[in-house]
Amino acid sequence: MKNAARTTIIVTTVIVGISAILFSNALGQRPSRPGAGQQSDSQLEKPPIAKDANEKRIFGVLENILKSQRYRNVPPQDGRFLRITAESMNAKNVIEIGTSTGYSGIWFGMALQKTGGKLTTYEIDAQRAATARANFKKAGMADIITLVEGDAHEEVKKLKSPIDILFLDADKEGYIDYLNKLLPLVRPGGLVIAHNINPRMADPKYMEAITTNPNLETIVRSGVGLTLKKQ
Ligand SMILES: C[S@@+](CC[C@H](N)C(=O)[O-])C[C@H]1O[C@@H](n2cnc3c(N)ncnc32)[C@H](O)[C@@H]1O
Repeated sequence: MKNAARTTIIVTTVIVGISAILFSNALGQRPSRPGAGQQSDSQLEKPPIAKDANEKRIFGVLENILKSQRYRNVPPQDGRFLRITAESMNAKNVIEIGTSTGYSGIWFGMALQKTGGKLTTYEIDAQRAATARANFKKAGMADIITLVEGDAHEEVKKLKSPIDILFLDADKEGYIDYLNKLLPLVRPGGLVIAHNINPRMADPKYMEAITTNPNLETIVRSGVGLTLKKQ
């Protein structure tokens, strides 16, 4: 193949790829995580459809967070998963380690508005915490979400109530400490959901703890570890 033709093919491929990413982001769907050539199940999904004006407003806040901020958040498909999980199990007490700017917290908040539950979320970085507080307010969730600013390894020691869902999305090497401290509070039938569970990022100590305990049932899908504390 001539050099000019090869260059044209490469340039076209790059343009088509970038367009696909921009288009999917505009719809609130991020491209799938699997490697080149692989298809993700979430490509079969469509963007969420607002049921009422409240949901519409919240989807707007979520979209703005993704558009305007530079910090890392879970992708929309994981946010939707968190909402569905919390709402369907009628969760009343959700604990999140790693608030960042509040994106995943707002997905939980959508569920908790329906269940009458509460989210307590932990963030060590003051600037992210301030942004998250503002985002929770914009989403109309300031009354159901408590943001605790500080080192979660210390702060979670104060927790006492039974937990329906424990969501881990902070320092990866800290997951084992959070698990040791909080698993006793997770109610039977409750869940530990851990983000960034993949061969590159998962802490072997955490993986060992959640896959060898007969009281736990764990699966990993698309980088999310889902652990049931058996009844
Ligand atoms: C990946 S981000 C969380 C994203 C968030 N769950 C979302 O989807 O919007 C991880 C966050 O954990 C925070 N973090 C890291 N170590 C922490 C600690 N020891 N205590 C509290 N927060 C911590 C970081 O500052 C960062 O904002």
